Amino acid sequence: MNQDEIDNLNEKTDIVSLVSKYVKLEKQGKNYKGLCPFHNEKTPSFIVSPEKNMFNCFGCHKAGGPLKFIQEVERVEFPEAVRLLCEFNGIEYKNTKVKVNPNTKYYKIMDTAKQFYNKFLLNDESSSVALEYLKSRGITQEIIDDFEIGLAPNKYDTLYQVLTEMNYMELDMADCGLVDGQNGKYHDLFVNRIMFPLKDDKNNVLGFSARIFGKADPSQPKYINSRDTKICKKSQILFNINLAKSDINKKHRIIIHEGQMDVIASYKSDLKEAVCTLGTALGIEQIKLIKKYTNNVIICYDGDKAGIDSSKKAIKLFKENNFNIHLVLLPDKMDPDEYVMKYGIEKYKEFFENNIIDDTEYLYQVSLIGKNLNDKNELNLLKKEVFSLISSQNSQIVVEKYLNRFSEYLNTSFDAVKADYDKYKNNYQPATVTNVVKPIKPKVIYNTECELRIIYYATKSKNKALEIDEEIRNDLSAFSEESQLLWISLINDYYVEYNEFDVNKFVKRLSDVSLNQYVKLNKVLGESKIKDFSDEDLRECINKIKEIKLRMKNRNLHDKAINSTDTTEQSRLLNEMFENKRKRENKRNSGGNVWILKML
Ligand code: CTP
Ligand code: MN
Repeated sequence: MNQDEIDNLNEKTDIVSLVSKYVKLEKQGKNYKGLCPFHNEKTPSFIVSPEKNMFNCFGCHKAGGPLKFIQEVERVEFPEAVRLLCEFNGIEYKNTKVKVNPNTKYYKIMDTAKQFYNKFLLNDESSSVALEYLKSRGITQEIIDDFEIGLAPNKYDTLYQVLTEMNYMELDMADCGLVDGQNGKYHDLFVNRIMFPLKDDKNNVLGFSARIFGKADPSQPKYINSRDTKICKKSQILFNINLAKSDINKKHRIIIHEGQMDVIASYKSDLKEAVCTLGTALGIEQIKLIKKYTNNVIICYDGDKAGIDSSKKAIKLFKENNFNIHLVLLPDKMDPDEYVMKYGIEKYKEFFENNIIDDTEYLYQVSLIGKNLNDKNELNLLKKEVFSLISSQNSQIVVEKYLNRFSEYLNTSFDAVKADYDKYKNNYQPATVTNVVKPIKPKVIYNTECELRIIYYATKSKNKALEIDEEIRNDLSAFSEESQLLWISLINDYYVEYNEFDVNKFVKRLSDVSLNQYVKLNKVLGESKIKDFSDEDLRECINKIKEIKLRMKNRNLHDKAINSTDTTEQSRLLNEMFENKRKRENKRNSGGNVWILKML
């Protein structure tokens, strides 16, 4: 289609009747007015002008002609919008670039099956038990209509006969996952079940989810879903996306449930932006589909253990895909459907809207569930869970907030919880290290913190590390053996390969001894009361190491001197020793942090 033809198509379209398919419009002077389909509003600010053949929203400022409207409301690319608008106008769509959908024949069969099941439920005498069952589960006539719920007859080949009557081909029926068999002997795959059609966002029926009802064989599965077919890929299906999409657009959020009864419960409660997967965990393809509509998800799974576990997995997946994540945790292990049955739609909606929490809060709340605080092991487990959650937070404010709440929950002081948390963090930091190493007793204790600090500074940047190395390379023997090894791993191994320091990569390269020393570094520096590490500190540390080196040299000189039989050599050695000592004392008097002085 060229630009002229597209302009023609736009002009040809009666925008009022097009928009009316989606929005209830009221005439107002020359124009029409209604509730905007692109944002949530209570008073209409969405105007359609037949004169200009345009729509315009004064609330969200979306505006344009018929094609733009279709694109926005159906969330489709331009060529698809053109196709849909041609369809709306009943004109042939002649764009050779877009192929005819090869699945159309399957969609037709599935649509026929859907209509058959639906009519059977509503009209056949034998359906009263199923209708009773639906009623008992709070499914009204209106819900049956909106979701086009149906009933598969209690006979093995009714659908097959109906479809054959309509001249559909057996192979195609089988390809749709509706019938099975061969050589003219076919039988239905769905017998005596309540049928929930599974649709895509364009309203095509892709498959069915079929629920058992009444006095059914308890050994049978509760739900049977269509098998995967050419058109039905369960990993791509979001139940109710067809009805939910306009509310997702308006409310800029999507609700994810575990089951279709839950989706229906939300739908009844005016939370129409709810969808679910079909007994399977949410997958990347569904995530992509959701992303097409919104970045804001609210996960509301069952409040039981399984639901909580699935929620954790979903949080992870949504996080990896940069969603804004919120959750609703229902009380007493309930699912949304049970909540609605127990308290009604008003209370459910109220609870839902007032209990939307972020993922951190959710994980905090669920970690508290079922833990006996009087049992030391359970308390420890709880502590680990909560501390691990808290330590993954970037904000110190959030950290303090949860430490505070946790102390209140445990009925202990903030300080006690904070002390345990600090301890946890120090032990935890190199938690990427899996093999635990036997601790080695350091030979030199007094200079430990100094050397560890220097190593710590060297992990800040490669440049800094090389600078320090140049300065202390000759004094390295003043380090404990373990720290020497760690230093050499850092400078002569790690930084040769990498330019940035990365804990995980670093610890992977360490020998057991170095690794142990690195664990110690984190522990010692974590417990250290001095929080701010500065260049000045670094200078002090380097000086201290140099001094230790001198002292070692002197001890060496001293040993040599007393073992020497040559008196001139002896006096030379002693002179050098005193010279060193003098230098050392001068240095020591030239200031220094209290903590260094204390260590001497
Ligand atoms: N499911 C399934 N096959 C099963 C059981 C469950 O496909 N054998 C799917 C269904 O989509 C179901 C969802 O998993 O809606 C959640 O299952 P579950 O929590 O067990 O059921 P409910 O949704 O509570 O089912 P109902 O309320 O209808 O009893
Ligand atoms: Mn349920």
